[in-house]
Amino acid sequence: MKINGKAYRTIWLREDGWSIEVIDQLKLPHRFETKALTSAEACAAAIKTMMVRGAPLIGATAAYGLCMALREDASDENLERACKMLAETRPTAINLRWALNEVASAVRNRPRTERVAAAYARAAELIEDDVETCRRIGENGLKLIEEIAARKPGATVNVLTHCNAGWLACVDWGTATAPIYMAHDLGLTVHVWVDETRPRNQGASLTAFELGSHGVPHTIIADNAGGHLMQAGAVDMCIVGTDRVTANGDVANKIGTYLKALAAKDNDVPFHVALPHSTIDWTMPKGVNAIPIEERSADELLRMTGRLPDGSLATVEIAAPGSPAANPGFDVTPARLVTGFVTERGRCAATEEGLLSLYPERRKA
Ligand code: MRU
Repeated sequence: MKINGKAYRTIWLREDGWSIEVIDQLKLPHRFETKALTSAEACAAAIKTMMVRGAPLIGATAAYGLCMALREDASDENLERACKMLAETRPTAINLRWALNEVASAVRNRPRTERVAAAYARAAELIEDDVETCRRIGENGLKLIEEIAARKPGATVNVLTHCNAGWLACVDWGTATAPIYMAHDLGLTVHVWVDETRPRNQGASLTAFELGSHGVPHTIIADNAGGHLMQAGAVDMCIVGTDRVTANGDVANKIGTYLKALAAKDNDVPFHVALPHSTIDWTMPKGVNAIPIEERSADELLRMTGRLPDGSLATVEIAAPGSPAANPGFDVTPARLVTGFVTERGRCAATEEGLLSLYPERRKA
């Protein structure tokens, strides 16, 4: 997608052919900077500190991290060490483990001399797969927006989203935002309610930034405002991304998603979840009280960083000194609260049968 008229992806191979460059998301929306990552350790640190974040992008970064580890030492021991080190960076998004497994499977049965090339080839495929997958999610989700637009000719379609499931969370397009970008590009009048998404504010700092850069009308709202807006009839549909969908259709996503789904149910507002195939954890039968939930630093809650009038950045404390804070990073929305899934293969019910109808190869014999 475009920033200042220039097309970007969130991750790309540098001219040297082996290291990668990423957008430093810790600096957004105040500064647009890119950073080179030249080792598996640097990739792991970028994921852990959330310089890169969002389920598909952390998978892509980890995939290249594994390539760089193999470039230094293509032994079995180093392959397993690097996989473990990269997998431990963040626990909730299944895309991370999926991407590492894809690259590791492409090299495990090969002689050492072939491993680096095979790993880079597979990582490049994963990147292209993510772009195409998100594009198709966009096409399949676009129909939802078109259906609403047809019911209220000439009026704005109001979409609510939580966190950042945009192109900054993926390689391009985004998952939840892809249908929105496509609708906007086709000339439909779409407006997005952007949950600020405390404590790290991915909505205010990233989703608003990327929608604004593309020219999509949007309004940032406090996380607590969504229920009120739904009651007032100001939300036509919600669409969010996800970090892991279990076999029964339960959805892990950024903390606060569950409350939005409850409010949507109470107000008969459709609540859709956009996801790529790499986000489905077929090994987990259910998600509620089962998916590991990342517990992040209390500092994220107790401090805020922002821009001062002179353009410099400052971090301030916002709570009573000494008060402890708890900071679970994700929650799990039960499948029963989800109206439907939007995937690269089409739309389906948020049930095991629904998922299997789109991915029949996963059906157990
Ligand atoms: O902690 P983050 O910023 O990595 O969390 C991201 C989200 O929860 C996204 O909405 C989710 O990963 C889906 S990304 C397409």
